[in-house]
Amino acid sequence: MINDICMIDSKVLRNLGNINDIKPLNNIQGKKKFYGLESCSHGGIYSTKNYLKVKIDFSSNINPLGISRKVLKEITKNIKQISHVYPDSNCNLLKKSIAEYVEHGIDKEWISVGNGATEIIHNFVRAVSLSNSIIISPTFCEYELASKRCKMKIDYIPLSKKFQIQTDRVIEKSKKNFNSLIFICNPNNPTGLVNTQQIEKILSSIDHSKTILLIDESFIEFLNDIEKESLISKIKEYDNLAIVRSMTKSYGLAGLRLGYLVANPNLIRKLKPFQIAWSVNGIAQVAGITALKDQDHVSRTKKIIHRERNYMYKKINNKGNHVNALRSDVNFFLIKLKNINSITYQKILLNFHGIFVRDCSTFRGMSTDYIRVAVRTHKDNVILLKAIHDINNNLNKSKIFKNK
Ligand SMILES: Cc1ncc(COP(=O)(O)O)c(C=O)c1O
Repeated sequence: MINDICMIDSKVLRNLGNINDIKPLNNIQGKKKFYGLESCSHGGIYSTKNYLKVKIDFSSNINPLGISRKVLKEITKNIKQISHVYPDSNCNLLKKSIAEYVEHGIDKEWISVGNGATEIIHNFVRAVSLSNSIIISPTFCEYELASKRCKMKIDYIPLSKKFQIQTDRVIEKSKKNFNSLIFICNPNNPTGLVNTQQIEKILSSIDHSKTILLIDESFIEFLNDIEKESLISKIKEYDNLAIVRSMTKSYGLAGLRLGYLVANPNLIRKLKPFQIAWSVNGIAQVAGITALKDQDHVSRTKKIIHRERNYMYKKINNKGNHVNALRSDVNFFLIKLKNINSITYQKILLNFHGIFVRDCSTFRGMSTDYIRVAVRTHKDNVILLKAIHDINNNLNKSKIFKNK
């Protein structure tokens, strides 16, 4: 038995070492995904029908180091559970670990878990059952989809030109619209910027009896100072504040799926009728508990991101380039394009270089002026930079100008 486990371990490790070779298992992806209401666009290799061409995926914002070795070891140790152990549908141990991790005197009654942050967002919207939603855009599209599914009236408040939250407009709107759910992504996807001070202003100004604030901190673990930027420290002050986090990105568990919500127990209880038993499987529970204990992995990740992001900025923001990398606080950033649009740029990178990036025109409120790229390992980043350099040279030679 031990030998079996070792075999799985080394095989899994070998495969993970070669993650760029992983291809979709079937061909159903690449088609536009329809959810009965409208499509919601994501990155990742499955989002292109040309996935066979993808050698390096810069479109998903996952930890560049992937899953930690400790987590992988724990998963392989427990792998046999998948055949005969029904997992704890209450996820008690996992919730206890999360409560200890987030601190601030929070216990497991303040925690809910789900099959990724996305499941929690949808369940949360259904559970609070409000009539209006306020979405600060551009941002993660699932807020819009979840609101539409619940037939909420949606108000979109655009970010400022510098991608900052227009705080006064959000407060004003929430005062006009009774029973609003405000979604704020912090750090925001796709801009990669934190806006904590503005959110604190919103939090202290809205009518607490009529408005709920859902903060998505799915990328907070990539910041240097989580304690300073996270609103978890305010959770006990405000009954109408909820914070969702994904463990798929920072801990490299994208395929396993895991996320959690921190909120007042009254809000947590409201979610229960909408949760499906065992949506967080046994292996995800084991992985989550171990991942939270392995903070060395997160620290190593942050160092790499910091170093690599600076390196990429320097190389991209060269004079005469047709692109400009924008400042970001996390593991991905926007690149502003000049003289070429994002759809063409994405196609060139994929067809000629095997590199897949996110075309940002699929985000509500964004034009074809931007692509979004993840910060990956140095080896991968060098390949992307070389491709950008080649496109730049070709643009200079052929003078292809943007065709909007
Ligand atoms: C802001 C944000 N929240 C949540 C998610 C989804 O997280 P999960 O994979 O845990 O469902 C994403 C995915 O891109 C995201 O960008």
